[in-house]
Amino acid sequence: MGLTVGVVGATGAVGRKMVETLEERNIAINKLRLFASEKSAGTTVEYKGTEITVELLTEEVMKDQFDYLLFSAGGSVSEKYAPIAADAENTVIDNSSHWRMTEGIPLVVPEVNPHVLKGYKGIVANPNCSTVQMIVALAPLHRKYGIKRIVVSTYQAVSGSGQKAIDELENQMKDCNYPNKVYTRKIVGNCIPHIDVFYDNGFTKEELKMVYETHKILEDNSIEVNPTAVRIPVVYGHSESIYVEFKEEPNLEEVYRILNSAAGVKVIDNPAENQYPTPLEVAHTDDTYVGRIRKDLYNPKAISLWVVADNLRKGAATNAVQILETMESQK
Ligand code: A2P
Repeated sequence: MGLTVGVVGATGAVGRKMVETLEERNIAINKLRLFASEKSAGTTVEYKGTEITVELLTEEVMKDQFDYLLFSAGGSVSEKYAPIAADAENTVIDNSSHWRMTEGIPLVVPEVNPHVLKGYKGIVANPNCSTVQMIVALAPLHRKYGIKRIVVSTYQAVSGSGQKAIDELENQMKDCNYPNKVYTRKIVGNCIPHIDVFYDNGFTKEELKMVYETHKILEDNSIEVNPTAVRIPVVYGHSESIYVEFKEEPNLEEVYRILNSAAGVKVIDNPAENQYPTPLEVAHTDDTYVGRIRKDLYNPKAISLWVVADNLRKGAATNAVQILETMESQK
């Protein structure tokens, strides 16, 4: 007997990737149901060569029985509908930020903290895309050397803002006078140091997600994280320039060995051959790619690295489906 799985927000940029990822990873699904708003209810999405009709999301349908419901329809949809589904004994894997910091809700990167899923049923939170790839790369080094401080700047793809942002960039690439609606500035030919809302301390919500989600996943609130999140005119794939200072002095050869054997990490790092990861090359893949690994010129306990991953896949859909796989394997 296969699983009954639902995808909420199935017509969106991440939702479509979730459907694709369920198919690609050959999840044993008996029945797949897709949900969206009245805007696209009744349209179809392809899964394993058949067209599945998108249903309207209602409170009633969330009370049906599902083994897993994957949500990616925004925070307010998750806030309202995820508890209804969980009350009906369904497991929700939620890609929105709404439940991530709620005590008792597991926030999971399967390569890093699968243990928090043992015996759990209810709402599980999928971390922010920028946090996921940073944690996949840094957690194995944290275990060895202990992270003291991270300074990170992100170069984030527009697909992280949903399908309408992809359309906005593509339209501006054809006509640079196409008006900006999603972003505060034109995104074509530009980079915008502003993702999500600003707080009084000068940081954006996206940046603070990287701070507090890192603490929760690594179970260590003492790690000092200092992020700057920037949107750039790339469609798929977030990049991050990361400076990390450890408690113990890292040995660079050992750092390569650790990263080369870390789950979900691929090292591409050969400056002599111009080899380093870029978003165009790693888009549509599931791994987190690391390059430009080097020691700080002044502080022997610090290194710099460049980390790239597909934000819709490892940063969202793949991580969500891996959570499903992990929960199944723990049964
Ligand atoms: P719809 O296309 O019917 O509006 P994206 O992140 O690419 O913008 O996609 C958001 C996804 O969330 C879409 O599938 C969208 O469906 C869905 N969605 C947004 N608001 C709601 C809502 N109130 N109820 C159900 N689905 C929603």
